[in-house]
Amino acid sequence: MSSTNTGGSPAYRILAIETSCDETAAAVVADGRRILSNRVASQIELHRRFGGVYPEVASRQHVLAIQAVVEDALADASVAHVRELDAIAVTNGPGLAGSLLVGVNLAKGLAFASGLPLIPVNHLEGHIYSNWLYTGSSPVSDLQASEDGNGSASDSARTQRSGSASDQFPALILIVSGGHTELVLMEGHCRYRLLGSTLDDAAGEAFDKVARLLELGYPGGPAIQAAAESGEAGRFHLPRPLMRPGRRTERQPDAQASSLPTVLPVRGEHRFNFSFSGLKTAVLNLMRQLEREEAEARQTQTASDIAAAFQMAAVDVLVGKTADAAAEFGVKQVCICGGVSANGLLRRAAEQHFAKLGLPLHCPPLFLCTDNAAMIGAAAYYRQSYAMARPPSPAGREHRQDAEAAAQSTPHEDPIELPARDYLALDVYASLPLVDSMRR
Ligand code: KG4
Ligand code: ZN
Repeated sequence: MSSTNTGGSPAYRILAIETSCDETAAAVVADGRRILSNRVASQIELHRRFGGVYPEVASRQHVLAIQAVVEDALADASVAHVRELDAIAVTNGPGLAGSLLVGVNLAKGLAFASGLPLIPVNHLEGHIYSNWLYTGSSPVSDLQASEDGNGSASDSARTQRSGSASDQFPALILIVSGGHTELVLMEGHCRYRLLGSTLDDAAGEAFDKVARLLELGYPGGPAIQAAAESGEAGRFHLPRPLMRPGRRTERQPDAQASSLPTVLPVRGEHRFNFSFSGLKTAVLNLMRQLEREEAEARQTQTASDIAAAFQMAAVDVLVGKTADAAAEFGVKQVCICGGVSANGLLRRAAEQHFAKLGLPLHCPPLFLCTDNAAMIGAAAYYRQSYAMARPPSPAGREHRQDAEAAAQSTPHEDPIELPARDYLALDVYASLPLVDSMRR
């Protein structure tokens, strides 16, 4: 049975596979936005004893899990055979080489056997498009977005924490994951300009490392968030790297009270860059100082207070820099994505801040913040539609509305060459940039 889109025409369905790190994931996505199935086999329990992802263990577990995960994703979407679909998408970087290879090789095999096109997807582009996905029958937030396009709607309607993004450009994207922290200006579908990135640790990496210092457990982000709930953020003062003091009256709209004056991004070349390793070192120094003073830094309340202070410092920087870039580039919407976008304080602080500025804000629903394959299916659809300057057009089927819109849209000024057209030439690059031709 073929799926239909809301207009009643056959949907363009992509089977997507994601194995870049420690989640074995497969999904079926219709027309780049509607999730028909989304399976994620987590390896968290396997890696917990190592306190982080153990690459060789991760790739071996992908080998064990991948076939069942793909079969389940197909069954959930009522797809009896891969040939019923329109394309296969797979993450081919960045990520752990051994993990990526498992997904890429399965995708190559499926594409070769079924004759379907194979679309390689950059993992970070997948995170971006997690903001375009929805699960129900219609993207509710888009309806709101078109209704309030002239600024007439209330702040609460304009700020959509969990809604899917509409196609309003330029959009500002904050990618915050375990391996990346990047501010990207999205000028159109698949058209990006990198504004800034971390000079050292990624935001998620800092959460993970601080959690390890405080012995809060793995994975670190959720552990810090949980500990911070019973912590007092104002007990310890931690630095906000690459930020400068602001006026007291311009306090950041943090959900928890902060005793610090607000901070503003530094000016100059690092205005949109981030740095988190100094913040992690400040936590380490604070713990050493507490131990010298014979206070137990890992005592539950103290650890919670440090976790809360760290979380607030990280959120201050992330929201402050994003708001600064949003104002500088006059964007029409802000999207936050990647594992750290699941952080409750980040979501609340960003919501408050952008509501005040009257800018629509999108964060994916929690289950799409961390690694999943649905986001890879979404990115693949838009990549095929826009970056390749040819809309998806399954043989013998009518073009869907989205595809027609893609064909009529302004062609990419500088078409991005996909890494490979030939399945067997598709390779894995451990440090693939978001887009090879990204313009600074
Ligand atoms: O996007 P993701 O699943 O994988 C990468 O592409 O890296 O992000 C994983 C990162 C980890 O560092 C994890 O600690 C962090 O996202 N994370 C969080 C939260 N949930 C996951 N960080 C802060 N607060 C959370 N609630
Ligand atoms: Zn990720």
